[in-house]
Amino acid sequence: MPTTRILIYGATGRMGQALLRLTKTHPALHVVAAVARDASRIIDAPAFSTSQLSQVPEFDAAIDFSLPEAFDSILNLCVSRKAALVSGTTGLSDAQRNAMQNAAQHIPVVWSANYSLGVAVLKHLSAEAAKVLGHWSADIFEAHHVHKQDAPSGTALALGESVKAYYQGDVHYQSQRAGDIVGEHTVQFAGSGERIELTHRATNRDIFAAGALNAAERISAKPPGFNRFETLIFS
Ligand SMILES: NC(=O)c1ccc[n+]([C@@H]2O[C@H](COP(=O)([O-])OP(=O)(O)OC[C@H]3O[C@@H](n4cnc5c(N)ncnc54)[C@H](OP(=O)(O)O)[C@@H]3O)[C@@H](O)[C@H]2O)c1
Repeated sequence: MPTTRILIYGATGRMGQALLRLTKTHPALHVVAAVARDASRIIDAPAFSTSQLSQVPEFDAAIDFSLPEAFDSILNLCVSRKAALVSGTTGLSDAQRNAMQNAAQHIPVVWSANYSLGVAVLKHLSAEAAKVLGHWSADIFEAHHVHKQDAPSGTALALGESVKAYYQGDVHYQSQRAGDIVGEHTVQFAGSGERIELTHRATNRDIFAAGALNAAERISAKPPGFNRFETLIFS
């Protein structure tokens, strides 16, 4: 079976650790580099510090779950090595999003605020509801653990974009940061005398890691271009 050579960026983080654990059960993926600021905290994988990024071996796809301040380095590395990028980092600036679109002219890229199958379906359902409920009010509620830095979450904003494609009014966002909540999103449509709530609850971040690994396996054979996660997994 051909293997995809993977670089994991942000390897010491909550998502990075889930990715490193799950790749061990994924025979088609081989981790050739795990990168973090402090490489000594990485066990059981070829470890590189961010200052050694230019020295990592050849790889087919980088999987990035880091923070916006770390994103530019991995995007540039993927372009210079002509390798694919799978990114789940949220809170990127407009300039970083533009840079990612420019990079997609040279390498395959997938970025998603949420790599779970359930949220991909929730986006679809929310868009379908918005098509007929455009005159109701639309609100998006999200809850995450206390360490999450950006708000509203990238997933809440992506759900809002799905709704806004068919909805004329304002979409309102509410965020909660509490305990160790992995991620909860509700899209609410409220009319006169009735209300619809569409909710997704993530209870384990392995779902995001599994989705990103799936995307990495599929994208490394693609030509340069920007890919949506939904398109990759539903095609
Ligand atoms: N798309 C999705 O499905 C999805 C799901 C969950 C999370 N996320 C997003 O993924 C990202 C990571 O989440 P997480 O919960 O794993 O966060 P986390 O636990 O805080 O991990 C962040 C990682 O980035 C590294 N990092 C931070 N600043 C850096 C810098 N300046 N240079 C290089 N590396 C740096 C950290 O290294 P240190 O250990 O050295 O700090 C750590 O390895 C966030 O943007 C989050 O919103 C996306």
